[in-house]
Amino acid sequence: MRKILKPPIKMSATMALNTRVTELREEGHQVYHMGFGEAKFPVHPKVLADFKEHAAARSYLPVAGLTQLRRNVAQYYHRRFNLDTDVRRVIVGSGSKTMLYAAMHTLEGDVLLPSPTWVSYDTQAQLSGKAVTWLPTSLENNYCPTPDDLEAGLKAARAAGQSPGILVITSPGNPTSSVYPPELLKALTDIARREELVIISDEIYALTTYGDVPFVSTAHYYPEGTIVTGGLSKHLSLGGWRLGVALLPTGDFGEYLYQYMAAVAGAVWTTAAAPVQYAAVVAYSDDPDIDAYAATCTAIHGYVTTYLYDTLHALGVPSSKPGGGFYVYPSFAPWRESLAQKHNVRTSQELANFLLDEFHIATLPGTDFGAKPEDLTLRLSTSYLYAMTDAEGEAMVAAYGQNLPRDEFLQQTCPAILDVCGRFKELVTSF
Ligand SMILES: Cc1ncc(COP(=O)(O)O)c(C=O)c1O
Repeated sequence: MRKILKPPIKMSATMALNTRVTELREEGHQVYHMGFGEAKFPVHPKVLADFKEHAAARSYLPVAGLTQLRRNVAQYYHRRFNLDTDVRRVIVGSGSKTMLYAAMHTLEGDVLLPSPTWVSYDTQAQLSGKAVTWLPTSLENNYCPTPDDLEAGLKAARAAGQSPGILVITSPGNPTSSVYPPELLKALTDIARREELVIISDEIYALTTYGDVPFVSTAHYYPEGTIVTGGLSKHLSLGGWRLGVALLPTGDFGEYLYQYMAAVAGAVWTTAAAPVQYAAVVAYSDDPDIDAYAATCTAIHGYVTTYLYDTLHALGVPSSKPGGGFYVYPSFAPWRESLAQKHNVRTSQELANFLLDEFHIATLPGTDFGAKPEDLTLRLSTSYLYAMTDAEGEAMVAAYGQNLPRDEFLQQTCPAILDVCGRFKELVTSF
């Protein structure tokens, strides 16, 4: 038989990790899983009630999503982020991943990806037959690409015979939780406009920002060339419901994209699940209770994540400064020699294995996000350290209402983060 498979695409790194975590737990170890980024707070009661009410809704809905939902999303983004959008430029899909894929598949040109960045863009580019040029970033700029990094990437891509047409920006970022400062976004969008790049701006963490850098949507600076994606997965902890949105650029380009992306949706996943779309109408209704709930969950993500960052910072571990989401991205390069000599650790994958075997902390290596192995970087996700059951999540949200200072709040409600930080202290002092 003819060889019928294409070259392999990357498999999710978390599968192997989960297996090892399970093994260690079965051996009786207290393992902290910091390898997966999933917000775990309970479903908000109003959203849940609506979902239940529509559980019997079983007909296919329109490919681009319910009109009422698209209208609510447009208004929500207008009020929250001052975006110039309307119902004709909103598409709803089965998670923002499908929207990102539809956008990637629809657009012409090769892809510029900041490094480090979320795993799936690279795979989606590959699936869409596009070449990728990485834009290396540095801790100095909190792992956001500078205008010089973008210019250098454009040059490198063209020198390699590519035709760069798409830039992906993720703010707040994964694996770094960095928020792009507004003036940086402005400068990057100026270049994108000049070079006629389309920006895919993945803003799935936009409603989970807590830091001092204010979140501004890329579309604010470049409305005619930016596709914004978002959804319910992070700020309302609804990853498993698979509801994502895309807000398309202004002008004819947006209209064209709407038709084309809807055609991709129609050919591949048809529409998002009906009961979820009805519940999403409520989630995007600007209900003050739901908004306050998302704000509380966000503040708690911020407490845990900044506590981890502050601990690592005090230990001298260079790390990304989180401003939204639940990640910290440290580098253990200052201990390169000690790690190699004492523990035979030379790459970030070996470091992740060492941390899991010796300290029972599961993480993902920076190489999974496009970083170099010798950078000795890791992605630490805090989201599986708390609210792992609805009762725990509810207790945490109730405790937040007592207005305790961060560290006291965490001592009361999140012993896991204190234990994790203790293990990192042990690790660093062992070097
Ligand atoms: C940066 C980033 N974009 C997109 C997604 C996917 O989100 P969704 O659940 O909306 O498909 C994730 C999920 O982890 C993410 O981290």
